[in-house]
Amino acid sequence: MKLDDIRREYVAQGLNREDLFAEPLKQFELWLQQAVDAGIKDPTAMTLATVGADGAPSQRIVLLKQCDAKGFVFFTNYGSRKAQDIEQNPQVSLHFPWHMFERQVKVQGRATRISTAESLRYFLSRPHESQLAAWASKQSHSIRSRQVLLQQFEAMKQKFQQGEVPLPDFWGGYRVEPTAMEFWQGRENRLHDRFEYRLGEQGWSIERLAP
Ligand SMILES: Cc1cc2nc3c(=O)[nH]c(=O)nc-3n(C[C@H](O)[C@H](O)[C@H](O)COP(=O)(O)O)c2cc1C
Repeated sequence: MKLDDIRREYVAQGLNREDLFAEPLKQFELWLQQAVDAGIKDPTAMTLATVGADGAPSQRIVLLKQCDAKGFVFFTNYGSRKAQDIEQNPQVSLHFPWHMFERQVKVQGRATRISTAESLRYFLSRPHESQLAAWASKQSHSIRSRQVLLQQFEAMKQKFQQGEVPLPDFWGGYRVEPTAMEFWQGRENRLHDRFEYRLGEQGWSIERLAP
């Protein structure tokens, strides 16, 4: 396979300064809505980058579950590797790759745990099996075999046969409050449009960046 022959021109559309909302979260909501409406697979999937105590970066995909003026919310296991990283260093980065639109959005911000009440509200909306899986998996820790995981799942099924599955105290959401966001739109001849929002004392500023 010759990788250097794999390329294409980005010609779908442009992004103009005068078309941008003053608030980056409003701009994000518009692009997310367009991704959802177009039927993009996993439109809410975002790469979350964290930095560990040793300074090494680490990334993984998580699903965006809430987005409003306060920021971006995802849910996970509070004992996972990403959670350990965040407890040490709350500075994170999110990345949405919407190839179909020749777009990407980059977010820089600070992650904090959301309230137990907010996590509970979301947990109760999850399918029963997903609730059990949250209990069954010690996320990011080593396990001997898949069999062990399935046994744990069965054990949780038995344990929570009656009534609602409670929210595990090791599971919940983080909200990423953005301090910078970049909107990238692919253009012809690699002359892409890039606009970066930065949060300052006067609110959000917007700058065009060279591609
Ligand atoms: C499409 C997709 C969606 C995912 N969504 C989540 C999610 O919302 N929360 C989560 O904890 N892990 C999610 N995962 C799994 C993570 O990518 C990752 O494997 C897991 O969270 C453990 O990461 P860590 O060991 O770095 O903490 C998802 C994976 C994929 C491919």
